[in-house]
Amino acid sequence: MSFGSKIDAVKNLLEPFTNHKVVKLSSLRDYFSEPNEADRVLKERGDVVVYEYYERIFGEGGGHINFGLTVMYPGKIGREYFLTRGHFHEKDAAEIYVGLKGVGYILMQTRDGKVEARVIEPDTVVYVPPGYGHRTINTGTEPLVFFFAYPSDAGHDYEAVKEKGFAKLVVEENGKPKLIDNPKYLMSPMV
Ligand code: PA5
Ligand code: NI
Repeated sequence: MSFGSKIDAVKNLLEPFTNHKVVKLSSLRDYFSEPNEADRVLKERGDVVVYEYYERIFGEGGGHINFGLTVMYPGKIGREYFLTRGHFHEKDAAEIYVGLKGVGYILMQTRDGKVEARVIEPDTVVYVPPGYGHRTINTGTEPLVFFFAYPSDAGHDYEAVKEKGFAKLVVEENGKPKLIDNPKYLMSPMV
């Protein structure tokens, strides 16, 4: 085991890593409020990369702290900015985000719909408390790059978000990001 990794702030990567995931638009189609718009962009621009991340994972057991670097590219589907899938941790485990480049939002919400949003940008630390699902949104015109760390036994639950989405959408209005209610979320039954 090496005792750390290096962040390359020019190439936007972290090395060494144990896991590198690239998430493309086709796999996020249904996460956007206007999937038809996603289809249009897919036709026009192809299957663009929305975000990717490098992780140092130390196994499923407890006691370690997994960490990594996420790089989100700028873009929009309709009025909605590029986003991550978002997830809850299976255990009541917190997470720390540290903004390095670019600007965006971290949306956080509990399973019963309590919502918080924080701006993430360079020199910002965002604490995601236990029990809060989290999704990141790039509201800028440059890549949004952030470091994250969470307990190694946290586990990831993507299903609840996949079905209901988040309570808020982050959209562009008059050239600026705005949080609005997600109509689809309001109509879904509690998970
Ligand atoms: O651990 C986290 O919460 C983040 O690093 C995310 O995993 C990362 O940003 C990608 O998001 P998601 O896992 O929701 O696709
Ligand atoms: Ni997480």
